[in-house]
Amino acid sequence: VTVYVPRDSAARSVGADEVAEAIAAAAGRPVHVVRNGSRGMLWLEPLVEVETPAGRVAYGPVAPEDVEELVAAGMLDGAGHPLCLGPTEEIDWLRDQTRVTFARVGVVDPLSAGDYIAHGGLAGLRRALSLSPEQVVAEITESGLRGRGGAGFPAGIKWKTVQGAESDLKFVCCNADEGDSGTFADRMLMEGDPFTLIEGMTIAAWAVGASEGYIYVRSEYPDAIATLRAAISTAYDQGWLGKQVLDSELSFDLFVRVGGGAYICGEETSMLESLEGKRGMVRAKPPIPALEGLFGKPTVVNNVLTLGSVPMIMADGAAAFAGLGVGRSRGTQVFQLGGNIARGGIVETAFGVTLGELVEGYGGGTRTGRPVRAVQVGGPLGAYLPTSQFHLPMDYEAFAEAGAMVGHGGVVVFDDTVDMAGQARFAMEFCAAESCGKCTPCRVGAVRGVEVIDRIVAGVDRRKNLKVLDDLCDLMTEGSLCAMGGLTPMPVKSALAHFPDDFGTTTEEGR
Ligand code: NAI
Ligand code: SF4
Repeated sequence: VTVYVPRDSAARSVGADEVAEAIAAAAGRPVHVVRNGSRGMLWLEPLVEVETPAGRVAYGPVAPEDVEELVAAGMLDGAGHPLCLGPTEEIDWLRDQTRVTFARVGVVDPLSAGDYIAHGGLAGLRRALSLSPEQVVAEITESGLRGRGGAGFPAGIKWKTVQGAESDLKFVCCNADEGDSGTFADRMLMEGDPFTLIEGMTIAAWAVGASEGYIYVRSEYPDAIATLRAAISTAYDQGWLGKQVLDSELSFDLFVRVGGGAYICGEETSMLESLEGKRGMVRAKPPIPALEGLFGKPTVVNNVLTLGSVPMIMADGAAAFAGLGVGRSRGTQVFQLGGNIARGGIVETAFGVTLGELVEGYGGGTRTGRPVRAVQVGGPLGAYLPTSQFHLPMDYEAFAEAGAMVGHGGVVVFDDTVDMAGQARFAMEFCAAESCGKCTPCRVGAVRGVEVIDRIVAGVDRRKNLKVLDDLCDLMTEGSLCAMGGLTPMPVKSALAHFPDDFGTTTEEGR
């Protein structure tokens, strides 16, 4: 019998390794324990799945001490038990999603080349290699794929810029420095289906004429780093990387580089500095990395989810991807539900799902059972939204119009005990701690921001200090060199606009 126990670090953090060992010990017959990725239903981890003639049956959350009883109750034959969740694919939470980028995560053994191919792997790369680079770029452009790192820049346009740049050497760099609080989709893809990222980067290399690639992974992700390294080694053995990829004329080498723990190294130009062995400081743009990137050469810099979406787009065609979503936000986004939420995890669905559907529907409200008061979307630099904004569709433009951002798709929930002035102060504190120090509005502004919020909350010259905060936010937005200082005002201003009471002020003053 085949049993699946995730090797994903979220599952391991709640005892998946011990559960896997306990199953092997208690089985009393040969069991094949596959360490898969997580299905993304994190409140059910460790989620154990048993292969039955009718498909996989899920049990969870399983503690090591539950295993003996589960085995005695017939778990290895898919029998019922209070922890049995029925057929995995029929669990509402999973069934109602549209998994494109995450189609194989949790399904396959992440390091099995055979499993990868059996589940549609390499179809995208094979098709791409049968087309000209120009045709591949056209396909990505038609799909409407936009950068999933947060900025939402059209991937096809970026690739076309790199493709058109004259150079003897070009690079594809994957930004896997997933630093936003409450985000974990990059990690789960790298741990659960690393070949998809490798395939996406190889397709990008073919499209733009690059011969080398780097995956820049944050040091806080040791499991993802180990999984990627093992997957890259297998990919070389299989002829998916190196000279003559899949017997084509493409030659592509891929390396993993580990970051040092600075949030700013997720900003693309800092990441390039860090990759070059320097301190992670932001570079002024222009020149854009597409023209002068790593070591001054034309470079594609894309997020894990952007590159991870490419194989499916190439395999299924641009129209299938473009057929999903709303407005200019095409395809699916892998939303990450976290914070004070009953059912946290990964929800991959087409753009257009509302914030309320994510938080109240999939998420089931707060974990504490208290009312939701605020939701921060798009990482620590994203806006705090009240429940009155739950009608907002997840769509880059709709969020921008509401003074918010979809960002990398992180959704962090707070209940009614949250102190929003404290959250606003935290945004400034975070910026002060993580600023690279290159420009004054951010380096000095963030420190002054903490002080002025403290004065407002203490009731010192409140009206005057609200004006100072407003001016400071405008200065940081307009004058910062990169998004770190430029976006820090977003959580501050949204907290002030929607939750003025917490600052001891009125809505009128807060505006
Ligand atoms: P940006 O708007 O400056 O650039 C977006 C991308 O488009 C960049 O790769 C840029 O080089 C490229 N680009 C711009 N014009 C181009 C052109 N004409 N041709 C080719 N490429 C072009 O945004 P930025 O500063 O790179 O990212 C800001 C975003 O990062 C924020 O919106 C935020 O959501 C997100 N973010 C994500 C984090 C994460 O952990 N994933 C952490 C912090 C922020
Ligand atoms: Fe550095 Fe902040 Fe300026 Fe960005 S905004 S360049 S992080 S000092």
